[in-house]
Amino acid sequence: AGRVGETTAQILAEQEICREVVLIDIREDAPQGVALDILQTSPFFNFDTLVAGSNDPADLADADLVVITAGIPRKPGMSRSDVLDTNVSIIDGIVDNILRFSPNSMILVVSNPVDVLTWRVWQRTGWGRERVFGQAGVLDASRMAAFLAMETGFSSRDITTLVLGGHGDSMVPVPRFCTINGVPISHFISEARIQDIIQRTREGGAEILALRKNSSAYDAPGASVAAMVDAISHNRKRLLPCVAILQGEYGQADIAMGVPCVLNEKGLAEVVELDLNPDEMSSFQRSAAAVSQDINRLRD
Ligand code: LAC
Repeated sequence: AGRVGETTAQILAEQEICREVVLIDIREDAPQGVALDILQTSPFFNFDTLVAGSNDPADLADADLVVITAGIPRKPGMSRSDVLDTNVSIIDGIVDNILRFSPNSMILVVSNPVDVLTWRVWQRTGWGRERVFGQAGVLDASRMAAFLAMETGFSSRDITTLVLGGHGDSMVPVPRFCTINGVPISHFISEARIQDIIQRTREGGAEILALRKNSSAYDAPGASVAAMVDAISHNRKRLLPCVAILQGEYGQADIAMGVPCVLNEKGLAEVVELDLNPDEMSSFQRSAAAVSQDINRLRD
């Protein structure tokens, strides 16, 4: 029931993406308060989604999908990797509860550093990768789309973007796959401005943290998680960049990072391997090396 969890729950409830949403938090009374607050928006948005808060992990029972947003957030100046050790121990405890109470669910990891923690959850569960995946690229791509809309004045409805790689300073926005309704962005924007937007996208989370000072982003992160849940709960077969366990794709294995994936009712149904050009591929491999470094800290 932190900010990302609350924002996600509000959207899931309001848009009736799920029939039932349960917020679980160790802070006594907090998730119950959040659930009530969300329920009290139902007359405005006309929803009858069931929303509850709980401090009892047993309430994970029968969940189809568990979204993990718990963990300590970064403070200004910290990287996502700086919160790794604390968040690993928090997430390990949550995973053990999921294994006990909802062993047939899927897990969507949001806590940072998300690539490393997705790998950790996958390893600790022993589940197939179709049931354990993470959110990063949907958010990073939405940031890039917003920056392109601000730059060009075009409606963000017409903007398609693609961001691959780790959710960190090495992330890989891919302008070749970014269009304004199918027209490559290079038709409208100079190469120099595209590079500025790529850099701003990479630092998108830090920019908001620096401005807000006592909170990371949560509006766009919550919307990004809700978009992934919607793809799964409505079996939409959407093509979205997700943090996936790679099994040979892009020359990588035993690592989790952002790649285009097919999301449907089975979860992460497929990793889509793009034909990257040499520049894109080398950026991707650099990003993989950065993610590996953190993962290696967790290997026994
Ligand atoms: C962000 C942090 C939360 O990208 O990862 O906003």
